[in-house]
Amino acid sequence: MARSDVRALGLACALALAACRSSDHWDVEPRPATAVRGMVVSQHELATRVGVDVLERGGNAIDAAVATALALAVVYPVAGNLGGGGFAVVVTRDGATRALDFREVAPASANLAAYLGPDGVAVAERARRGPLSVGVPGSPLGLWELERELGSQHFSFAELAAPAIALAESGFAIDARLADDLKDDVLREGCFAERGIANAFYPGGRALAEGERLVQPELARTLERLASDGPDGFYRGEVAHHIVERVARDGAANAISLDDLASYRIQWRTPLRGWFRGYELVTMPPPSSGGLIVLQTLGVLDGFPLDSRREQVLAEQRAAPSPACDPLGLDDRLVHWWIEALRRAFAERAAHLGDPDFVDVPVDALVGAEWIARARVSIGENADPNVVSALPPEPESPQTTHLSVVDALGNAVSLTTTLNSAYGSRTWAAGFLLNNELDDFALPGAANQFGLVGSAANAIAPRKRPLSTMTPTIVRQGERGVVLVIGSPGGPRIVTSVIGVLLRVLVFGQPLADAVRAPRLHQQWNPIETDFEAGWSPSLLDGLERRGHRLRRGVEPWASVQAIQIGRDGEPVGVSDPRNPGAALAERARR
Ligand code: DON
Repeated sequence: MARSDVRALGLACALALAACRSSDHWDVEPRPATAVRGMVVSQHELATRVGVDVLERGGNAIDAAVATALALAVVYPVAGNLGGGGFAVVVTRDGATRALDFREVAPASANLAAYLGPDGVAVAERARRGPLSVGVPGSPLGLWELERELGSQHFSFAELAAPAIALAESGFAIDARLADDLKDDVLREGCFAERGIANAFYPGGRALAEGERLVQPELARTLERLASDGPDGFYRGEVAHHIVERVARDGAANAISLDDLASYRIQWRTPLRGWFRGYELVTMPPPSSGGLIVLQTLGVLDGFPLDSRREQVLAEQRAAPSPACDPLGLDDRLVHWWIEALRRAFAERAAHLGDPDFVDVPVDALVGAEWIARARVSIGENADPNVVSALPPEPESPQTTHLSVVDALGNAVSLTTTLNSAYGSRTWAAGFLLNNELDDFALPGAANQFGLVGSAANAIAPRKRPLSTMTPTIVRQGERGVVLVIGSPGGPRIVTSVIGVLLRVLVFGQPLADAVRAPRLHQQWNPIETDFEAGWSPSLLDGLERRGHRLRRGVEPWASVQAIQIGRDGEPVGVSDPRNPGAALAERARR
């Protein structure tokens, strides 16, 4: 955006103008890369502190990410986990890019018939709760391998797990979010009904209140086993037996077995890389769809005249100031392009994406010049909802969690981990919750809890990984190296939230904090409606409706972006989404 345009904005936009101006730090003279100080952003302050402490004791970003993730498994039980899985995208100080897939897998006994009723119709609930929803956890092996492969080797895994063990053993004061969840009778009677667990969360039968200490001795013992015996301490022996007994107790013939646990493997994958306006995006390949959707959407949008459109809108706003103007010059035409680009990327997700170890995912074709060009020219002036969904998404309270870390050396980690729904399958084993990740497979004729549909590419099969939308992403810019580390929870809203912040920061020039705070939109092809958080200009939304878009206005805020931007002065700016905040903390300067 031309600065003169910004300066000339009408009075009515004066407040927002301040935000636009402060984006100038993207325009100052380049200085060499790498952060002056390390930084950790996560969804819980105690976990962030654990990570920063590791950095201050000489650890690198990978050490800090592993310690933070282990601490989240204790202090953020809604999504932090041992019983789930996730992905990490890493850029190392020498410029190498890595992608770790520690996604859960379906058990060897998995078969579609177990999820169908006698009439052959999918019983979606079976994939959401109880033993048939549980995938073989990937987090313990994932964190272990991440550290073994890329950690500084100054710390043993046991040393990185020590703060988490201490938090589980000695307890910590619970925050308002957890205290609120404990008041929920559905959770109390389902999720927390196990006696050992209930003793921890409901001592004497009364829910812990905000500020009271949660002590989790059983979880501490499981973490100790992992710390002392490595992955075998989780995937074999007592903990493994407990997991299998626990799911078997719920009466499932097709649940996970000891052999499933012992044979779980992580996968190092080649990260997806794409270029957009001079930035390089390093992001997660399948079995996540997140990275592909980012590259497809930004690729399509790159062919539209985003800058000249905004300049024109800003000029119009100057001529006729209105209190309802969008401060960045976004209007219905530009947002229409944005929505249609998302719709096309999500349509491909439903048709083609699944576990690349089982199906051929046409990654190159989906981000290739031809797909991008075809998608672009297929976008006209009006909404193009080619399929009407009969199955709107269920209201849910899903949870995942993301952490972003940079160190002063130039290493960066973007790690998203999940139990899928809030508190996963609601089944505890050995002091931790098991995921319900198998709901991310596509059942015939049924949408999953997020309203996502899919094809045979994402059908359940033994030892297959369910398709994800988690989008851990790192952005680099030439000599500067890493400039942005980003990710979020939110199911399919993860990728649309990440795309929104990327557009706002990289194209519209907003400072990271404003871009994260800014209202979001979400379109996932099925259903056809596009969701908008409160805060969008009503005239922009009216304009979209005139173009034939079906909107849901003022939808409850979603996702929780945890991001770090490294300014040209090398100072990291960390932002923990105000919608569901944790903490962004910088390491004390080393130099
Ligand atoms: O892998 C996925 O895409 C989902 N299981 C993530 C779930 C999620 O983000 C829920 N969070 N708020």
